[in-house]
Amino acid sequence: MKVLIVGGGGREHAIAWKVAQSPKVDKIYCAPGNAGISQVAECVPIGAMEFEKLADFAEEKKIDLTVIGMDDPLCGGIVDVFEARGLRVFGPRKNAAILEGSKAFSKDLMKKYHIPTAAYETFDSPEDAMTYLETSDYPIVLKADGLALGKGVLICQTKQEAMDGVKTIMLDRKFGAAGSRLVVEEFLTGREVSVLSFVDGKTIRTMTSAQDHKRALDGDQGLNTGGMGTFSPSPFYTSEVDEFCRKYVYQPTVDAMNAEGRTFRGVIFFGLMLTEKGPRVLEYNARFGDPEAQVVLPRMENDIVDVFEACIDGTLDQIDLKFKDNACVCVILASGGYPVSYKKGYEIHGLEQLEGKPGCYVFHAGTKFADDGKTYLTNGGRVLGVTASGEDLHKARANAYAAAQKISWEGMFYRHDIGKAIDEV
Ligand code: AMP
Ligand code: GLY
Repeated sequence: MKVLIVGGGGREHAIAWKVAQSPKVDKIYCAPGNAGISQVAECVPIGAMEFEKLADFAEEKKIDLTVIGMDDPLCGGIVDVFEARGLRVFGPRKNAAILEGSKAFSKDLMKKYHIPTAAYETFDSPEDAMTYLETSDYPIVLKADGLALGKGVLICQTKQEAMDGVKTIMLDRKFGAAGSRLVVEEFLTGREVSVLSFVDGKTIRTMTSAQDHKRALDGDQGLNTGGMGTFSPSPFYTSEVDEFCRKYVYQPTVDAMNAEGRTFRGVIFFGLMLTEKGPRVLEYNARFGDPEAQVVLPRMENDIVDVFEACIDGTLDQIDLKFKDNACVCVILASGGYPVSYKKGYEIHGLEQLEGKPGCYVFHAGTKFADDGKTYLTNGGRVLGVTASGEDLHKARANAYAAAQKISWEGMFYRHDIGKAIDEV
């Protein structure tokens, strides 16, 4: 089989690495990919938003299966373009990817179908939002409706911060068109857990749990980022939480999408907050998490190609997902200045020390080759995801940090407290 993966971050590296283990697969392409992904796939210089060019490529190379990793092409309708041309593709159509693409849509869906989530109001005008915020309780959460690289959420401690936030999102349009609508949401407290799942339109199979660390700096300080590190499984995702979510969140979401005529096939990522009153859905994503995929996929025992095919064919009920009884921790190594502004093009040192090390996986997010075609250079904010496994979370964390310490470049930084929460268990 020939497989094409669309995207070029750490998540796509993890997907490509997992696909490469399938005995069914002889050739993997990744568009656009990155330097690290070229270890397992042939990278092709086509952008993830160039749908027709990607479909031309898939036709020309007789690709058997295309897997879409990123949110932008999914929300933009890449799956519809591929399907219209008779190409096999894994991911939700545009009318289902809206589950991630519009927070107003997802909140309305949860309300209509009684899926537990924070109370909210949606606003199309900044004046109406400001009037509402005059008499709200604080803290409160403001969310740009559309896609904003995981950064369109503002937690406001005071009325003044909220007023400034409305200006940032709706008037200054810091997150572009994503800020034409605003969701104002009740502030929740609790432990966050990410649960990814495969969906074939009717059946849902959840993967093992994970926890992300969204803030840039140690102790959850600094700005929100795409994610600075993850661990899996989450010890806070107990069997009671799982049972609750199975009953009130997972299947109800799949059924709600069908009831709305928006059948979902692909990955649904449930961002959950475990509050004192029980689990609440913070957000949905219509794809694997990044860097959740980097700790979940190395623990998955199934041939992922079988699972992708079952999702496309509607036979997921015949698949039993299996995960190893170990743990994984991923530490993101980032460029100095991320998530605001940072320089690219620095030489990365130390990668060779981790090559072939058992239980250690370096997934590349933002890297490229120097002109010599072999020296790795930084090429993004999040540069590498250093993942290690271990028989439990403590061991996995020690292994991940031991590995991260081998790598360096000018200005590199990472959080030192990924997985610290497990000390509280
Ligand atoms: P989202 O993109 O919706 O997941 O939001 C990004 C981050 O903002 C989440 O991972 C949470 O840490 C935080 N967040 C989102 N919604 C809420 C909420 N209602 N209460 C408290 N924190 C929230
Ligand atoms: N790590 C969070 C996300 O992928 O959105």
